[in-house]
Amino acid sequence: MSETKPLRIALAGLGTVGGGVIRLIDANGDLIARRAGRRIEIVAVSARDRAKDRGGDIARFGWVDDTTKLAEADADVIVELIGGSDGPALALARATLASGKGFVTANKAMIAHHGLELATAAEASRAPLKFEAAVAGGIPVIKGLREGAAANDIARVYGILNGTCNFILSKMEAEGRDFAEVLAEAQALGFAESDPSFDIDGIDAGHKLSILASVAFGTRPAFGAVAASGIRHILAADIAEAAALGYRVRLIGLAEAGPQGLFQRVHAHLVPVDHPLAHVTGATNAVVAEGNFVGRLLFQGAGAGDGPTASAVVADLIDIARGEYGAPYAMPAAELADTLPADSGDRIGRAYVRFTVADKVGVLAEIAAAMRDAGVSIESLIQRGRVGDGSVLVAIVTHEGPERAVAQALERLRGSASLTDTPLWMHILG
Ligand SMILES: NC(=O)c1ccc[n+]([C@@H]2O[C@H](COP(=O)([O-])OP(=O)(O)OC[C@H]3O[C@@H](n4cnc5c(N)ncnc54)[C@H](OP(=O)(O)O)[C@@H]3O)[C@@H](O)[C@H]2O)c1
Repeated sequence: MSETKPLRIALAGLGTVGGGVIRLIDANGDLIARRAGRRIEIVAVSARDRAKDRGGDIARFGWVDDTTKLAEADADVIVELIGGSDGPALALARATLASGKGFVTANKAMIAHHGLELATAAEASRAPLKFEAAVAGGIPVIKGLREGAAANDIARVYGILNGTCNFILSKMEAEGRDFAEVLAEAQALGFAESDPSFDIDGIDAGHKLSILASVAFGTRPAFGAVAASGIRHILAADIAEAAALGYRVRLIGLAEAGPQGLFQRVHAHLVPVDHPLAHVTGATNAVVAEGNFVGRLLFQGAGAGDGPTASAVVADLIDIARGEYGAPYAMPAAELADTLPADSGDRIGRAYVRFTVADKVGVLAEIAAAMRDAGVSIESLIQRGRVGDGSVLVAIVTHEGPERAVAQALERLRGSASLTDTPLWMHILG
């Protein structure tokens, strides 16, 4: 290999992903140098606590106390692995890109909220900006869409974007246990944060979905337009009912760009057992993209963890080392279309709705009447199981119809004395 200058990088954040990046560069440095044509060399690091035991030798790197000042380090690229949509991560991103240095991040929250501003700053200073690890951890899905599928008009992109939720749902399914119990176990095993709300309420998947949507459709990032809900209200009984009907329950992020606008949502769905996403279990992530020439692409792999996430971060660095990088969203920021959010009411689909009702005469007739009056056609209605307070679970599956009609039926039932809890509505992926 010729004696080309190494790509000098500075690392902000030495936690799970930062530690993984150091270990990966240590382990695969020679191979990477042969592939990239030059070495990747860590020259400086920064985190909160210099004294913390990092389980490795970080004294060989320069230490910078003030993380934002890392932008001034004698490096070509700053790698941000701190997290948080604002705060030091954003300050570092702004300072780095303004200085014309490259910036690589795994921070989906920051890219979902500030990606357009950062892409514009990167263009202005001709600096590389890359964030492969921000979506689906180790899966090269951004690269797949930006490069491999770049010739296609993408109709929709959807998938399992949060490993914590998928881990919990798979465990609920395999063991017939309820959400709260499985969440506590996931936390003990390190698969869920002590404050799990970003994951289990669909926010994290929403961040990733909005990034994917921009790359796939060439639309301006619009995280604020993602309708998101999570998995807190799913019962073991819903999963059992779904299984009896031939479905598995998965938290699905789905984005589509059409004449009605950009549609983005993250909700629990019933996925037919013969669909590839039904077979994605545990903390795995998977993304499906449908292109008009390539057809259906499926990307699957580890959506988190030190090794997989470091793999994506270092792949971005290799691209920069080779000088192979383009616009972060696959086209210049000024080309990104400002697309209005599409109304979910117009969508046609089938639904699963589970009601928790008082065990008394006339309740089923009341639900059926509300559905009929709103124009919802019921395919099946199942009354099964009793919950703690003596309430009964009633699940209906609808025929295909506009989502607006289901919403109207639920609105009619709102406040009914027959319902003892808020109904759970899940779309059926089809
Ligand atoms: N973990 C994953 O599997 C994964 C997957 C995909 C993407 N990501 C993203 O990668 C990023 C890092 O995640 P992580 O799991 O590695 O986090 P982490 O283990 O909590 O590590 C965070 C690091 O940032 C440092 N830090 C925190 N606040 C700081 C501040 N105010 N100033 C300077 N340094 C600060 C911490 O310093 P100390 O060590 O001194 O406390 C720590 O080294 C996040 O954006 C996350 O969303 C993570």
